[in-house]
Amino acid sequence: METQNTIEADATVESSSFLASAFREIFYSPMNLALLSIIIFLVYKIVRDRTEGPGARDLSQQQAEPELPKLRRDFTIKELRPYDGTQPDGRVLIAVNGNVYDVTKGKRFYGPGGPYATFAGRDASRNLATFNVVANDSEEYDDLSDLGAMEMDSIRDWDMQFKEKYEYVGKLLRNGEQPTDYDNENDDDDELPVDEKKKD
Ligand code: HEM
Ligand SMILES: *[C@@H]1O[C@H](CO)[C@@H](O)[C@H](O)[C@H]1NC(C)=O
Repeated sequence: METQNTIEADATVESSSFLASAFREIFYSPMNLALLSIIIFLVYKIVRDRTEGPGARDLSQQQAEPELPKLRRDFTIKELRPYDGTQPDGRVLIAVNGNVYDVTKGKRFYGPGGPYATFAGRDASRNLATFNVVANDSEEYDDLSDLGAMEMDSIRDWDMQFKEKYEYVGKLLRNGEQPTDYDNENDDDDELPVDEKKKD
């Protein structure tokens, strides 16, 4: 191959001509050229995202939604219901696996008009486990006891995902269950979702 010869010949001369042949190697091969364009495109995207800063792309959303104060309390199904993003503060809460999360920053998913708006202000566990986005307006606590092991696993997976991405608010209360008074709680415990607290 010609390029191969060029490299060998140039290598003995000096490094600047080695560079030149390396460039030729890249620019004369259509495959390398294609890969190079992809790399340049990706680097461009990363640099652009960096320079625009975090959240620059949903600027409109941020302007409409200044950060809300942290919530820390337990909810019954009925108490959770108004937090579907239609209140003046626009806060959106969702319960998964007995844990209530503040998903306001995921408003494009759960806010009014979002693809998963039917989860807002509700216990989404059953919906997530059964791939169902139809609203369940039942005001009863759903004990999920009819679901199978795989569905319960899926709910726990979703719970972990929500825990990672969103702010934990408190527990979803069963019928007659009393809310925890978080004002009297020491700070270390403050951020821990239900099942983690039970361990110790
Ligand atoms: C045709 C079917 C579906 C498609 C194409 C789809 C697509 C997507 C995409 C692209 C995202 C990520 C969006 C982003 O990160 O910007 C997403 C997130 C999500 N999807 Fe779906 N989805 C489908 C069905 C479902 C179903 C049936 C459920 C539950 C019942 C579901 C629940 C969710 C949830 C909870 C999120 C996470 C939002 C978050 O990060 O908080 N999706 N979906
Ligand atoms: C709605 O929730 C109730 C319990 O709260 C449950 O028994 C029922 O199966 C749910 N319906 C659907 C369609 O998921």
